[in-house]
Amino acid sequence: MLSRYVKLLERGELVAFPTETVYGLGADAWNPSAIQKVFEQKGRPADNPLIVHISNRTMVDSFAQTVPPAAEKLMTHFWPGPLTLIFDKKPEVLDILTGGLDTVAIRWPRHPLSQELIAQAGALVAPSANSSGKPSPTKPKHVKEDFGKKFPVIAAGETDIGLESTVLDVSSEPFRIYRPGAISAEQISKVAGKKVERASQPSANTEARSPGTKYTHYSPDATVQWLKDDLDSQETLYLLHTQYDNLKAENIVHYKGNFREMAHELFDRFRQADFHGFHTVLIEPFSAEQLQKPLVRALQNRISKAVS
Ligand code: TXA
Ligand code: MG
Repeated sequence: MLSRYVKLLERGELVAFPTETVYGLGADAWNPSAIQKVFEQKGRPADNPLIVHISNRTMVDSFAQTVPPAAEKLMTHFWPGPLTLIFDKKPEVLDILTGGLDTVAIRWPRHPLSQELIAQAGALVAPSANSSGKPSPTKPKHVKEDFGKKFPVIAAGETDIGLESTVLDVSSEPFRIYRPGAISAEQISKVAGKKVERASQPSANTEARSPGTKYTHYSPDATVQWLKDDLDSQETLYLLHTQYDNLKAENIVHYKGNFREMAHELFDRFRQADFHGFHTVLIEPFSAEQLQKPLVRALQNRISKAVS
């Protein structure tokens, strides 16, 4: 079933495929012209590096120069899964892949189809399969919306988590999270046996070390804002999770504290807001207590980036 897609990849073409987080835009990690096509297809700035996707532990050694013992523990514990690790890169890793950085990001995704594809086609770079600046795709149709009806997509329904992987730099001490995801700093710290820093505030240093953090991601055409008090606009889509349970209308979505569901749907809701011509998306802010949860932190991060 995958052979057609494997052939495309071997020919240096692009193929979108499912992972447990979001759909990825795959290309042969050792083919510079295929990787060039990834940047062109997405309209992605050349200084924003890509994640290498692998399907077994051995493949790490073709890309990473050194693997610290604590990172080894993280791989054993969290892979396959939604955790991307940044290592010092081997000299032969292509510059176009790393945006000229001396580090390389690697992830072993959990989705069985991604694993099978990589096992057959070899290591793949795979950014989220959306046009730069659009919400990441969680359904095959999102990929087609951005790249056209004929674009090759291995369709496997909705992705499970719905938000991108946690990105953790293990190339220097202290280990540092550049992008929060389903796997939290606390979980990582416990397994690694050391302190893990969160780069939650934008800073020049973080932007230099992980250029993706400086770009506005995930924005629909509609304006996204945190809900304050005004619950009256006709052209507004509401995403609510805790208070306001008595409010009912077609344009009000209640999550009732189900943050897993909210993460799973967020990017699709953003796209729907544009499809239905909403002018504004208003989202109920999270409490300090809710922000202790890894997924709520990841939601806060993605929503903050979309709030303009
Ligand atoms: O869940 C995911 O990670 C999805 C699926 C498809 O695997 N992929 C994904 O890729 O979100 P992308 O390209 O949309 O986001 C990759 C992030 C960017 O913020 C990028 O700057 C950062 O990882 N990154 C990649 N390589 C890096 C490196 N060497 N150093 C620091 N940050 C890096
Ligand atoms: Mg992306």
